[in-house]
Amino acid sequence: MELSILLLGFVFGLQLLVYYAFRQKNKSLPGPLGFPILGHLPLLGQHPPRKFTEWAKTYGPIFQIRFGSFRTVVISDVKLLSEAFSVPSLSGRPFMITHTIPTERKGLVFSEYLDNKEQRQFVLRALKDSGIKGYAFNDAIHESVTQFVQSLKAQEGTGVQVVGLFNLSILNSVWNCIMSSKLPANDLSQVLLGASNRITAFGGLLAQLGVFIPWFGLLFPNLTEITSGTKAYKDLYTFLDEQIKRHRETWIKNKPRDFIDAYLDKIEETTDENSSFFARKNFIRSTVADLFTASSDTTSASLEFSMLYMAKYPNVQKRIQEEISKVVPILSEPSLHDRENMPYTEAVVNEILRFSTVVPMGIFHNATEDVTFHDYRIPKDTMLLSNLYGINHDPEIWQDPENFRPERFMKEDSQQKRKLLHTFSVGRRICPGDRIARDEIFMFITGILQKFDIKFTSVIPSLEGEFGFVRHPKPFEVTFSSRITSVDNKCAE
Ligand code: HEM
Repeated sequence: MELSILLLGFVFGLQLLVYYAFRQKNKSLPGPLGFPILGHLPLLGQHPPRKFTEWAKTYGPIFQIRFGSFRTVVISDVKLLSEAFSVPSLSGRPFMITHTIPTERKGLVFSEYLDNKEQRQFVLRALKDSGIKGYAFNDAIHESVTQFVQSLKAQEGTGVQVVGLFNLSILNSVWNCIMSSKLPANDLSQVLLGASNRITAFGGLLAQLGVFIPWFGLLFPNLTEITSGTKAYKDLYTFLDEQIKRHRETWIKNKPRDFIDAYLDKIEETTDENSSFFARKNFIRSTVADLFTASSDTTSASLEFSMLYMAKYPNVQKRIQEEISKVVPILSEPSLHDRENMPYTEAVVNEILRFSTVVPMGIFHNATEDVTFHDYRIPKDTMLLSNLYGINHDPEIWQDPENFRPERFMKEDSQQKRKLLHTFSVGRRICPGDRIARDEIFMFITGILQKFDIKFTSVIPSLEGEFGFVRHPKPFEVTFSSRITSVDNKCAE
């Protein structure tokens, strides 16, 4: 009798233990109260990352909200973010009516994890390979910078609007890296540019409702800008299909002239029907489109902020100019080879990337299955949002984060600090273009500052940006005035 009571007690105790262990593992995440249907969208305000940081103080570095119909987990802590984004089942992409339907989940940005992994490996290798004409990023960027600096000379002394100033040059340099041909005439590049910018726009509340409450978007496609978003993709794809067709007509197997030819080779050698490179899957145009859309607006916005900070902090500008004079050989223009000898300029690039964080909420991830993360249950199809802006402005990591202070990247622990910089996200979907973006920013800043001083015209603008998937500064003007450099002196002799 005593034994059976003991046994019963043991079984009951075990059940209780299992129950509590199970309950612990399935805690749901804390979070603020939102509205029915709209969720927390109306509460995000003008600067959502600040709101996320505010909520994180109450609910912790990982909490949940709703973006319309989407359950959304917001992560504002470096370590948690690195951990979460290294999990394959937290590295999918959510269904977004404006992007998932037109892309059919092909390409790099909106594809699912496994397809993305395959495409990413190829793209990274291909972009690194500078042996093929069209891939040589240094030359491509250099050419764009030279043309850009020439165009500034024509506008010397007059007020120049900076927002939008770099769009075409950046597009041009990416184009030169991907295609061996020249960027087509102006109207065609405007199609490419318009479509790229439309695709990365976040839109107002109505546009957000169209994306995050899909039935509302389907019911009111014009009002919620779903129609114009879808058209942007259509224009872009039509344009790229034509370019790819032209390549196919002149392509010679295993003799790639550029990125597109190398991709055609890859398609040719792929026999596995499950591979994303299998001909019928037709990933090529989406992957190429993604390289344009993901690179042009982001890099242009970073350069616009760079001009804003240079004009605002003339002492930073002067120190970069001194470094250029010291390092860049006479009669030469700055090149990527000079970078290792320009620690101050490199620190400024890091600080620009930190301070501006032009993709403030990253690109949304998706849980592709139920996941238990730090004892919290993240159900399948939960969206994950990285508060990259909050992380790059976290006072626990960055002493005085609201000051633009490049020196923070020059101390002995600067390598450590650079690792904490999360402008390009982290983990399995980390931006594959970070190196190119850094190269572009370095080359444009040094190319411009070698030749010009930058000043605000009259009004000193705010350092605050306009919020969007990609942040830009508010419109502002500067003047570019020629400097007398050692190169000019030498030429005059
Ligand atoms: C300053 C410039 C740039 C910034 C701040 C930036 C930032 C980002 C961020 C935050 C992501 C999201 C990563 C994630 O989902 O966790 C991303 C993804 C991506 N970026 Fe960039 N990026 C920049 C420039 C570029 C350039 C120059 C390229 C290409 C040449 C590029 C190509 C991509 C692609 C293809 C993805 C999608 C990756 C994937 O889904 O696996 N980006 N970028």
